[in-house]
Order: sequence, then C-alpha cells, then structure tokens
Amino acid sequence: MAEVKGMKALQCGVITMVLLSSAVFAFVEDLDDTFKDNRMDDVWLVDFYAPWCGYCKKLEPIWYEVGAELKNSGSPVRVGKMDATAYTGMASEFGVRGYPTIKLLKGELAYNYKGPRTKDDIIEFANRVAGPSVRSLPSRQMFEHVLKRHNVLFMYIGGESPLKEKYIDVASELIVYTYFFSASEDIMPEQYVTLSELPSVVVFKDGSHFTYDEYEDGRLASWVNRERFQSYLQIDGFTLYELGETGKLVAIAVIDEKNSPEESLRIKSLIQRVSTEHRDSFYRDFQFGHMDGNDYINSFIMGDVAVPSFIVLNTSNEQYFLPSAPIESLEQLITFIRGVLDGTAQAYGGDGFFQRLKRVAYDARSTIMSVFRSSPVLACFLFGLPLGVISLMCYGICTAESDDEAELIKREGQTDEDDEEDELDVGRHMAAELKDLGEDNEAEEEQVEKSAADKKLD
Ligand SMILES: *[C@@H]1O[C@H](CO)[C@@H](O)[C@H](O)[C@H]1NC(C)=O
Repeated sequence: MAEVKGMKALQCGVITMVLLSSAVFAFVEDLDDTFKDNRMDDVWLVDFYAPWCGYCKKLEPIWYEVGAELKNSGSPVRVGKMDATAYTGMASEFGVRGYPTIKLLKGELAYNYKGPRTKDDIIEFANRVAGPSVRSLPSRQMFEHVLKRHNVLFMYIGGESPLKEKYIDVASELIVYTYFFSASEDIMPEQYVTLSELPSVVVFKDGSHFTYDEYEDGRLASWVNRERFQSYLQIDGFTLYELGETGKLVAIAVIDEKNSPEESLRIKSLIQRVSTEHRDSFYRDFQFGHMDGNDYINSFIMGDVAVPSFIVLNTSNEQYFLPSAPIESLEQLITFIRGVLDGTAQAYGGDGFFQRLKRVAYDARSTIMSVFRSSPVLACFLFGLPLGVISLMCYGICTAESDDEAELIKREGQTDEDDEEDELDVGRHMAAELKDLGEDNEAEEEQVEKSAADKKLD
C-alpha cells in the first residue's frame, strides 16, 4: 500500500516536473527562417548558439530562466534562440561571429550583450536596452529614485537643443553600457546640483556630479565612454577588460582580503584617496580599484606580483608599471602614479614580438600545469601514454637482434639520441595540442567579445 502511494507520489512528481519544465521552456521560442520576416513588430532577445559549443550549453538553463522571468515581469521583450549553424545565412546577416552570441534586436537596431552570462545581468541588459534610450524624468522624486538606484547615470538637463539631439544619438548607441536620462532644470534640487550653464550633460557618480565640457572633453560619445565607470571599483578579469575599453590606465591595489584584512584595508584606502582627493589630476588618465588575489595579475604580467602591492596596467599595449620601492604613504603613491603619467616610471611587458613569444610559452605551460592540477590521472595518461608507446618502440628497436655487434652498438647510440629527440618532440607536440585546446576556447570567447565590441547597427 505504502509502495503504491509512493509510486503515485513519484508519478505526480514526474508529471509536475514535466509540466514545470515545459512551462519554463515555453517562454523561449525556437527561431527559424521565418524569424526575419516576423520579428519587426517586437523587441527580441536572441541567443545564437551552436549545438556543439560548451559555453552555449552552459547558457541554456539560464536562458530558459531569463525567458520565464521576463515573461512573468510583464516585459514586452520576446526571448528566442536560434541554431546559428542551421540558419547560417541569417546568423551572418545579424553579424554572429562566435557562439553563443546574445543580441537584443529592436527594429533596425541590434545590440550585442557582452556582460557576464548570468540571469540577473542579462535581464537587466534586456530591460535597459529594450526601453527608451533616453528616459525622461517627470519629477524630483523620480530623480531622487534613479539616483539611489544607479551608481553611474548620465543626465541631460534643459529644453530642446542641438546638444539634446546629439545626446539622444549617443544614448541610442551607448545604452548597452549605461543609463541615460533627461530632465528639465526645475526638478533638480538646487542644493545638490549646481550648473553653470544650460543645457548641460551631467554624469552622476562617486557621490557627486561632473559636467560635460565640449572644449575640454571632446566628442560626447567618447566622454561618455570614458566616464561610464565609478572612479574606484573592485576589479576582476572581466571588469579589467571592460575598463580597458575606456583607454585609461588601470591603477590597482593587489590585496589578499582573507589572510591580511588590515593591511588590505590600509592599501585600499590609499588608492581610494588618490581616486577621490586627487580626482582632478588623474581621472582623465586612470581608473582605480583593487583586486583580491594575484592570480589574474600574475597571468597578465607573466610573473609573480607581491601581495599586497600596487601595479598600473596599460591594457591597450599590455605594459605595466611597478613602484621601485614598497609604498607606505599617500605621497609615495602619488609620486608613483605621476611617474607613470610623465613617462619616468619604468615600463615592463608590452606586446612586442618577444613578449608575444613569451606569452605562447607561458600559456602552454599554464595549460599543462592546469591539466596536471585538475586531473593528474588524465595528465599522466595524456603525457605518459605516448611516451610509453615510444619507449616500447625504441626498446623494440634497441633489442632487435643483429649479427653485427659493432653495428648494434652504433645503432644503440643512435637510437638513444633519436629516443631523446622523439621525447622532446612529443613533449612539444603535446604542449602545442593542449595549447590549441586552450586557445580554441579562448578564441571562441574572444570572437564573441570582438563581435560584441563592434556593436552592430543593422
Ligand atoms: C598605453 O598604451 C597606449 C597604446 O600603445 C599608448 O598610446 C600610451 O601612451 C600608453 N600609456 C602609457 C602611460 O604608457
């Protein structure tokens, strides 16, 4: 009896699961050739995938959640996925160059998603980009509300003007990165916002606001691109890549928060103070931040950086700068940063020929190391098996019977050499192959990033 009940419960469970999962799947539409003609009336968020790609498989469950949540929140955005290998013509028309590629399609415009592939990040992107690129704020309450919600936001203040038209243009392109608002002058709280002239474009961040100045700051789009981050951030590999796109140098405190919390606090506060108290001297050229742990920096500089310490990275040419002596005070840190700026600090690394050669060797080594670390058995098998086979073959050759003793000795001598050479070759070959494996994945990612970088306006 109990068993029958158990079976029933199980059946029930299975049925609910099937229902639930089909309910989740229902919010993601499988797109085909007809998509091109049918899409124009709606805003679409599309995952262009390849059936064989690992990153696509990882994205799939997240994608279903994105579909379900956008639906449940009443968003007008429709979510779809398209096998880009089955509909290659359409994929190339949309500028898909890597897998997975996530795009938001809004009429004639196509926006690439290049952020972390998590549900919340993707949904935030969809909501931001699907809405109007400039959101107008009707009241002071709304102004205060958005100010609380966003760490960085851009605002146009004033009536109709050529600057506003420019602002709308820039916003429709850069909405992939950040938020753009507009408001009339009278909703700004006077005690908070002081403007020397109207109309103005202002960025609110770091607990303050900064006004765009056409003569000093150049093109509006490039100013927005440079100002779209808080001046001080916690930095990881992904943010570092994004920060690099501003063309600024990145000054980083490398710390170990878990093992030396007090020292970390001290170092962090030094660099934080430079970013706020000396903003005017450095904000045009630097982004500031800290990184917990030195793994990422080590692979950037192909060496070992001390923890805690300071480092300045030039991500556009892969150069880096280290202080010549440990930094204890604010003054020393400022001297170091000034030195980087005026060219007196010693630059290391770079993207020259030898550095790139070193990079290949370094990557090969770390790939092999990581195979050994993650699965020693597999690594032994990978490297050991070919070596074993070759040793056996050599053994076979060496012990082959021969009438002529002298020749045997000679041949033995030779084969010993050959043997060594072969082993080296195998080592090289394996390293190259592993490198390829590693690179394939990277290339995949890179391609995506590249295609994301040149945001395509269809
Ligand atoms: C950083 O790299 C870019 C591109 O090579 C270069 O133009 C710039 O001068 C570099 N900055 C410093 C401080 O070396």
